[in-house]
Amino acid sequence: MDCKEFRQRGKEMVDYIAEYMETVGERRVTPGVEPGYLRDMIPKEAPAQGEKWEEIMQDVEGKIMPGVTHWQHPRFHAYFPSGNSFPSILGDMLSDGIGCIGFSWAASPVCTELETIVLDWLGKMIGLPADFLSFTEGGKGGGVMQSSASECVLVSLLAARAQKVKELKAIHPFVDEGVLLSKLIGYCSKEAHSCVEKAAMIAFVKLRILDPDENLSLRGATLAQAMEEDRAMGLVPFFVSATLGTTSCVSFDNLAEIGPIASEAGCWLHVDAAYAGNSFICPEFQYLMKGIDHAMSFNCNPNKWLLTNFDCSTMWVRDRFKLTQAMVVDPLYLQHSYSDKAIDYRHWGIPLSRRFRALKLWFVIRNYGVEGLQRYIREHCRLAKRFEALVLGDERFEVSNIVRMGLVCFRLKGTNDLNRTLLSNINASGKLHMVPSAIHGKYVIRFCVCAQDAQDSDIDYAWDVITDYAAELLEAEMVKEKSGIPESVLESSNQEVGQIQHKLEMSELLELMERVIIPIPKHAEAEERHEEKHPGQLAIQPATPTPVVHKIKQKVSKQLSKRQFSFTDTIEFVPKEETTNP
Ligand SMILES: Cc1ncc(COP(=O)(O)O)c(C=O)c1O
Repeated sequence: MDCKEFRQRGKEMVDYIAEYMETVGERRVTPGVEPGYLRDMIPKEAPAQGEKWEEIMQDVEGKIMPGVTHWQHPRFHAYFPSGNSFPSILGDMLSDGIGCIGFSWAASPVCTELETIVLDWLGKMIGLPADFLSFTEGGKGGGVMQSSASECVLVSLLAARAQKVKELKAIHPFVDEGVLLSKLIGYCSKEAHSCVEKAAMIAFVKLRILDPDENLSLRGATLAQAMEEDRAMGLVPFFVSATLGTTSCVSFDNLAEIGPIASEAGCWLHVDAAYAGNSFICPEFQYLMKGIDHAMSFNCNPNKWLLTNFDCSTMWVRDRFKLTQAMVVDPLYLQHSYSDKAIDYRHWGIPLSRRFRALKLWFVIRNYGVEGLQRYIREHCRLAKRFEALVLGDERFEVSNIVRMGLVCFRLKGTNDLNRTLLSNINASGKLHMVPSAIHGKYVIRFCVCAQDAQDSDIDYAWDVITDYAAELLEAEMVKEKSGIPESVLESSNQEVGQIQHKLEMSELLELMERVIIPIPKHAEAEERHEEKHPGQLAIQPATPTPVVHKIKQKVSKQLSKRQFSFTDTIEFVPKEETTNP
């Protein structure tokens, strides 16, 4: 492709992306494909000769898009938002165009300088103490971009490990580092992201995972007691990872209590605020990081909740020399004459090569302005509150978390299985996408406000879908109950049905119910129809109707007509020979 064609294709691509963004809501939010779907669609070998651009783009729509989960879809409410915005895309496009690798100041000075400046901007916006900023007079702090929150946690833990081993070595100069390492122990809450556990595994240090309180917040007393017990065993506390905005339910560890305990113990305190940390650009949320004065490092992901595309994890440290001592290697070919005057970010993380990521964040902050970004965060929080109010207004449901940010965890009052089925039915419909989580051992459904310009109507639509499916599920449960079939029989029948994959289209439910609960004169005909549609599967025999069952049927019928039968979801029905009424 030459420059002339690039101009043309580039413009077409921008049009394609804009069209995608404008119409993404018309697509199915999750793909309806099975694992391996792409293998048969793509040649087994790479093409020997270059192919025409049109052919490649044709395959984008025909082969790539069918496998995409549309994270920017207004019906996507899973995980956390995947940051995205036009200024960010354009910033990244420019970064790709420049195509430099900024591992040291000399490798491309602006990569380093813009990163330092933008991280100071964002650090101030978040309200971090001045010690964390690069341009604080006499300070040792600074900010850096990493690829992920997991990397921020790992890098902090490595720095903490190096620092503690150095301190211990000074006291016990003749003890081997390996022995000192075996004494180190770190701490986090059960609610911390699994990346803390992974970091400890990689760094070969012990990690004690502590119970949070009833609000899923790690408390100072729990940490203090654990440290005391571990010291008594000859272990050396060296690292604490506190979470502000946990993944499962956006709960907040009590930093105000944890902070002083961690610093008194001589531990490196890292604060992982991957999602919720972005909200601290709004002053009203900054109370949640009370105790940050005791932290050695802090991270948040603008690529989650600050309209910036992946990858963009921002991390600040109070002492950059303590961070880099764990990671400095200095071969001759990477040295330059400004090494003592400039930051070389290659010492601040694991990879050597670094993309020019600061550009997109700079574009985003400049184009939205601090107030624009605050509006975006506040709007998501408002919409989450709207959703929470809808859940609270329906006595069949309960809210399971404290809703402060854009996440609501909710459930049907009932068993874990009931909620699992509800979520599975909703996700299978392709109308909404949500993921589950567990709170105090209970299965909950996470509803996250994700779309960049989410509206009230999106929240109301989601609630309509959820309540429709819930009503249907509860009705089906009632039918089962009222059918009088003992629970144990239903359970075993369910298994049998599952094994033979006896599934019925929802649009057949009415017909099925007719045949189950209402005597049908032309019984033989119905059986014939069933055999045609489900060859080899069990035909359901009619049972004696009762007034209550008739009422249920009417209700279900109303629900179904509301749903317009456009979906592909299925319902499993339980036939059992002993219960049929020939
Ligand atoms: C609190 C928290 N920490 C860490 C992570 C891991 O983030 P990443 O994918 O950037 O490694 C997540 C992901 O959702 C998270 O919520």
